[in-house]
Amino acid sequence: ALTPELSKQTKRKEIAGIALMSETVDNWSQIQTFKAKPDDLLICTYPKSGTTWIQEIVDMIEQNGDVEKCRRAAIQHRHPFIEWARPPQPSGVDKANEMPSPRRLKTHLPTQLLPPSFWTSNCKFLYVARNAKDCMVSYYHFYRMSKMLPEPGSWDEYFENFINGKVNWGSWFDHVKGWWEIRDRYQILFLFYEDMKRDPKHEIQKVMQFMGKNLDEAVLDKIIQETSFERMKENPMTNRSTVPKSILDQSISPFMRKGTVGDWKNHFTVAQNERFDEIYRQKMEGTSINFCMEL
Ligand code: A3P
Repeated sequence: ALTPELSKQTKRKEIAGIALMSETVDNWSQIQTFKAKPDDLLICTYPKSGTTWIQEIVDMIEQNGDVEKCRRAAIQHRHPFIEWARPPQPSGVDKANEMPSPRRLKTHLPTQLLPPSFWTSNCKFLYVARNAKDCMVSYYHFYRMSKMLPEPGSWDEYFENFINGKVNWGSWFDHVKGWWEIRDRYQILFLFYEDMKRDPKHEIQKVMQFMGKNLDEAVLDKIIQETSFERMKENPMTNRSTVPKSILDQSISPFMRKGTVGDWKNHFTVAQNERFDEIYRQKMEGTSINFCMEL
């Protein structure tokens, strides 16, 4: 009999050396010709950097803290995911095309693969970066439970693949560097997962300002509460419990797993940590970006 592992989708395709889901690659011309609009706001992240969290924050701000309105649909249906494709379902581009403006969209694409109209339309970009070690750990557990991704293999095997950028959406290093380097050339609000954890109020205020919203203190406090890890873990509209087990098997690892800074310490061996720090130094040389690895 086929074990779940063997039945997992393992087709791997690339665009310009970056592994993406095969359906995304098959739909590439529709994605690249996507027509952005000047009032679009694009939420951009490397996978597992707090995408769902920032999506919920953006929606709560947009809905002026109205929890019921935010419960109108599961989070993955509220913001079209530009490169998403899973025929015969409508693609992310199809969904974005149907969405009334102002649109709030999501992508994991690195800058060099973004549909060019996003740049020419001078849209707003909201980028969230998470420290590489925690991001890597979170992605490992996601690889294990997602039936859309190939098997990650052992932690040691996956460790090599991650540092070599041989994971979907490519290298964490290139992704973060790419977005960081252009942050002053476009309307980009660049946030860090660790800052959002340390001082959610401050970071949510920045998002509010960036979106041109002015909400009072009581609404802001409500948004802070409702977007906490604990609340989002129990909220069926954010915890992915509406996604079938055949796509996300949360008995292997929950989507809302830990939501902390520093879990990498429970996964990295001392040798791996030293090796990673050296690779990090080489790959990030010359950039001014600074990450916090523990709170
Ligand atoms: P962990 O696996 O470390 O727990 P994404 O939405 O980009 O896929 O990222 C998922 C990661 O963000 C998971 O990390 C998840 O637990 C964490 N996360 C989701 N909501 C969060 C919240 N409100 N606060 C803190 N972390 C959150």
